[in-house]
Amino acid sequence: MSTRTIAIIGLGQGLSHLQAFQMLPDSTVIAVCDSDNALAQRIAQHYHIPHVYDHIDAVLANRAIDAVVIATPDHLHGQHTIMALNAGKHVLCEIPMALTIAECQQIIALSERHGLTYQMGNQVRYAECLHDIAGLLRAGDLGPLFYGEGEYLHDMHDIVDDRPANHWRINPATPQTTLLGGGPHALDTLRWLMGVRFGEVQAYHVNQPSDWHTTHTTVALFKADSGAVCKITVSYGMQRPYCLYYSVYGSDGSFERSRDQAGPMQETTNYYYHRKLAGARRMIPATVPNWYNPRLPRTMTLGHGTMEVAQAQQFLAAIQANRLADIHAREAADSIIPLICALQSADNGGGVVHIPAS
Ligand SMILES: NC(=O)c1ccc[n+]([C@@H]2O[C@H](COP(=O)([O-])OP(=O)(O)OC[C@H]3O[C@@H](n4cnc5c(N)ncnc54)[C@H](O)[C@@H]3O)[C@@H](O)[C@H]2O)c1
Repeated sequence: MSTRTIAIIGLGQGLSHLQAFQMLPDSTVIAVCDSDNALAQRIAQHYHIPHVYDHIDAVLANRAIDAVVIATPDHLHGQHTIMALNAGKHVLCEIPMALTIAECQQIIALSERHGLTYQMGNQVRYAECLHDIAGLLRAGDLGPLFYGEGEYLHDMHDIVDDRPANHWRINPATPQTTLLGGGPHALDTLRWLMGVRFGEVQAYHVNQPSDWHTTHTTVALFKADSGAVCKITVSYGMQRPYCLYYSVYGSDGSFERSRDQAGPMQETTNYYYHRKLAGARRMIPATVPNWYNPRLPRTMTLGHGTMEVAQAQQFLAAIQANRLADIHAREAADSIIPLICALQSADNGGGVVHIPAS
């Protein structure tokens, strides 16, 4: 496989991507960019990166760069991805794909027109705890699926407490929302597990003041084209440990994650039921690795276990084979446009919103 040259733009979560690509033999990180120049300089020095920039324009002008990772604040993803695709770069962009439907559609059009690889960075699709159930669901083991739940529950005090009041996540001009911030982990992962596309949505924000200029908790109900219904709950204010919960129900069986979840590198419990087990009076527990892939070396571990490394591997393989990445632009839009419509519903106090096709 030929070596791809990578630039990382935005050096918070972007640092995990930098480390992931540096661990892989078929990529080399040759540039970092952050509007905080001192931060970019520090990171470049520490990780031996030759090119350091404080503006995306300079990254995109460097013809030696094949692909960019966009890990800037949410409200910049659409604009930065469109700029990168127009400059002929492959793109791995953090969640969410963009904050507007028009930007999502433009990203689809550009990636398809220029034949560039695009991946939205929902690394949860590479969580080992979902590996087996994803296979069973694809094989139709639980029968036709009629209901699923996804939850992203993250008390954001741990992320924003030490940030200045103008930090983008809580800045009144650009506040992050739960639906488009953590929501893709809930909805995109559930949609992938169930293999569905959505036609309409209705959502509510809880009537609970947030500690910041952001939404506290939102619940959304999506109706799939297949007739299945999905519910997601996303919360930045729930007083409980971090939780990524999924359940999926089919006519032949059921899957439920535990809500009492272990750390990334620990084992966790999933629960299954199949009607062939008619004598069973309890869900069947299975102990599985949480966020680490036991087939990857332990040295490839980051804050989210091995998920970013597996995602980077898949992104590079897609570029090499000139094929669509797992969460290519149309696939990403099939999750993000429904979330944008859900936000519209919740912001208007509820009510059905019809979801346009991507
Ligand atoms: N997938 C995940 O699990 C996960 C986890 C954390 C964050 N994220 C996403 O990553 C993105 C960044 O979040 P974060 O927590 O790293 O935020 P952060 O504020 O810690 O880091 C963002 C960085 O981007 C830089 N930046 C801002 N505007 C820029 C610009 N115009 N050009 C270049 N650099 C710019 C900032 O200086 C900062 O260093 C967000 O979209 C967030 O939702 C995803």
